[in-house]
Amino acid sequence: MGEKYFQVDKINVKYGDIQVLWDVSFEADQGEIIALVGSNGAGKSTSVKAAGGLVKVYDGHIRFDGKDLTGGNCRKFIDYGVILCPEGRQLFPNMTVYENLEMGACSKEAESRKKETIEKIYSWFPKLKERSSQMAGTLSGGEQQMVAFSRGMMGLPKLFMMDEPSLGLAPTIVDDIFRIAKKVAIEEGLTIVLVEQDVRKALKLADRGYVLENGVINISGTAQELMTNEEVKKAYLGF
Ligand SMILES: Nc1ncnc2c1ncn2[C@@H]1O[C@H](COP(=O)(O)OP(=O)(O)OP(=O)(O)O)[C@@H](O)[C@H]1O
Ligand SMILES: [Mg+2]
Repeated sequence: MGEKYFQVDKINVKYGDIQVLWDVSFEADQGEIIALVGSNGAGKSTSVKAAGGLVKVYDGHIRFDGKDLTGGNCRKFIDYGVILCPEGRQLFPNMTVYENLEMGACSKEAESRKKETIEKIYSWFPKLKERSSQMAGTLSGGEQQMVAFSRGMMGLPKLFMMDEPSLGLAPTIVDDIFRIAKKVAIEEGLTIVLVEQDVRKALKLADRGYVLENGVINISGTAQELMTNEEVKKAYLGF
């Protein structure tokens, strides 16, 4: 059996005594975009945190690019290019846009290529160049999400996980960010895991998707399959 580029293999996660993920598996090829959808509390954030080394799995494996990263700390994941853009953006509000971006260059290689990466980001989002010396906390929600996305990109991800990038934002801004994400996936082979409550938007961007319900993956398939799946339609697409 050929090994997948990225493979979350039957992970189980507990917070204290309470188990929140049961044998959760998802996988992606290089350059593929997968979506993880499901209702509040289903375990989406926990899944990507576990896949990024930010919460411990007590059973199961996380494999990336031929390496088993299970049990490593998040530093190790970052060094291998596994980067999470967290839910709620988590910017440093009293630092400038530029300083926030700098904080994302968290591996040796990312640090050494910082200048060229920032130039690339400014070409994607000219607004961030204009606002480079503004305090991040005073940016609009949409601008903050651009910074959060870009700060993640500063780490030169090979696998980029985005947790609810669209939350509370105008559709056009989300479209901008998704367009850039897709471009990087196509041009540079970036693999993307997208966690989204806006299931329609997520499945429009993604190649494949997984539906997480109460800590279990119940449905998976191509984006097209999920979009026409009766259960998905009823529960998540509102018709
Ligand atoms: N640090 C924590 N300590 C204890 N329980 C937690 C912790 N983080 C999450 N949980 C619980 O784990 C379950 C899954 O939470 P998680 O944040 O992964 O869900 P989610 O699918 O991302 O939800 P949402 O759509 O609201 O962001 C929830 O029942 C939540 O209360
Ligand atoms: Mg969440």
